[in-house]
Parts: sequence; structure tokens; C-alpha cells
Amino acid sequence: MVSPNYHIFVCTSCRLNGTKKGFCDSKGSTQLIERFMEEIEDRDLSGEVMLTNTGCFGICDKGPIVVVYPEGTWYGNVTEDDVETIMEQHIVGGEKVTELLI
Ligand code: FES
Repeated sequence: MVSPNYHIFVCTSCRLNGTKKGFCDSKGSTQLIERFMEEIEDRDLSGEVMLTNTGCFGICDKGPIVVVYPEGTWYGNVTEDDVETIMEQHIVGGEKVTELLI
């Protein structure tokens, strides 16, 4: 059974019918996923951190949206530069990145 310590969800703007519509994808969320993948691999955390792209969360104007479980922490307006901060401060350090909270 897979039981990661953290599960990171990144909105890539997919709607239920499969089309992409919304801000997250157009504001670079696919690049965020690539950065998270690099960070997880570089830190050798693939067994502890799961990464999933998601459909629209319905708050597109605050995108790109990243949600981290188990806490259910919602981050908005996330940039590629913020990925390292989320990994270092939240995933490794256990502290939420307050300036990105929505
Ligand atoms: S497209 Fe990401 S919240 Fe809507």
C-alpha cells in the first residue's frame, strides 16, 4: 500500500470534460509540476511525496493553485521560484509557507 507523508496537487486547469480552461495552465502550472518532480527526485523523496495534477479548483483568479495534504494547505499564485520554498519549508521543514496561503 502506498502511504506517502505528503501529497501535492497542482491544478493544470482541466475541466470535467477534459478541456483545459482557466488560469493555472496558462500561468505555467505545467512547469510547476516539472519543478516539483525535479525537487522530489533531487531530495530523494519519491517514496514520501506523491505529486498529482488536478482539474480546476474553481478559484482560477488565484492560480496557479497548489494544495498540500495531509494538512489541506492551499497555496495561490505559485511561481516556479516558490516550488523550492514549498519543498524546503513545508515538505522538509513541516512549516506552511504563510506568504503563499489563500
Ligand atoms: S484553472 Fe486552476 S483553479 Fe481554475
